[in-house]
Amino acid sequence: MLGSPCLLGLLALTFSLVLKAQPLAPQGFEEEEETVWPPLPAVPCDYDRCRHLQVPCRELQKAGPASCLCPGLSSPAQPPDPPRLGEVRIVAEEGRAVVHWCAPSSPVHDYWLLLWEGKEPPQKGPPLNATVRRAELTGLKPGGAYVVCVVAANEAGESLVPEEGGEDPEGAGLSAFGPCGRLTVPPRPLTLVYAAVGVGTALAVLSCSALVWHFCLRDRWGCPRRHRAAGVL
Ligand SMILES: *[C@@H]1O[C@H](CO)[C@@H](O)[C@H](O)[C@H]1NC(C)=O
Repeated sequence: MLGSPCLLGLLALTFSLVLKAQPLAPQGFEEEEETVWPPLPAVPCDYDRCRHLQVPCRELQKAGPASCLCPGLSSPAQPPDPPRLGEVRIVAEEGRAVVHWCAPSSPVHDYWLLLWEGKEPPQKGPPLNATVRRAELTGLKPGGAYVVCVVAANEAGESLVPEEGGEDPEGAGLSAFGPCGRLTVPPRPLTLVYAAVGVGTALAVLSCSALVWHFCLRDRWGCPRRHRAAGVL
């Protein structure tokens, strides 16, 4: 008498398990099919390492509504890789230059510029936060030949500068994709006076050579022709 409800209960349980198990099986297959698709949307974050006032990619990831992908970074326990110096635009008339750079693939806390001329010790610019990719140098001398470098720093240290204060600005330290570059300020722009002096000098040189040709060379080059003419006759 007691056994039959027990048996019934067991039957009901088994039945319900079977019923549950049946819809589970196709679901399992669907899940397997779904895993073929990437679980994360493979959309790169709107991050440009060369863009001025670029928010760090990790912060874009945190702030964004949808997840996006960031470029890989070196370990925060290591000093950053050197940034890459970009365009250096010189405004010679105002003795200033605007320097652009691109962030390294490393966590960066701040940047600064180093500037030196010849064998002088490098001058260090003010610290710039991690979003900055552009800075201005002022007080450049006309005709000056400088070396400018971008340094990136984080908690672990600062990026390397090849040949800091180096005596050899022509050396291999200034590679095309490195943190440093040469900055040559043109001499004072040609004013009208300079242009006039230049044109005057050119005219004087021209008239001198005309006179030299007239009095010296023409005789020498002219005479053999006459001699030759005489010889033929
Ligand atoms: C970083 O510096 C720039 C330029 O000085 C400034 O506009 C920006 O607000 C600073 N950003 C932060 C997060 O401090």
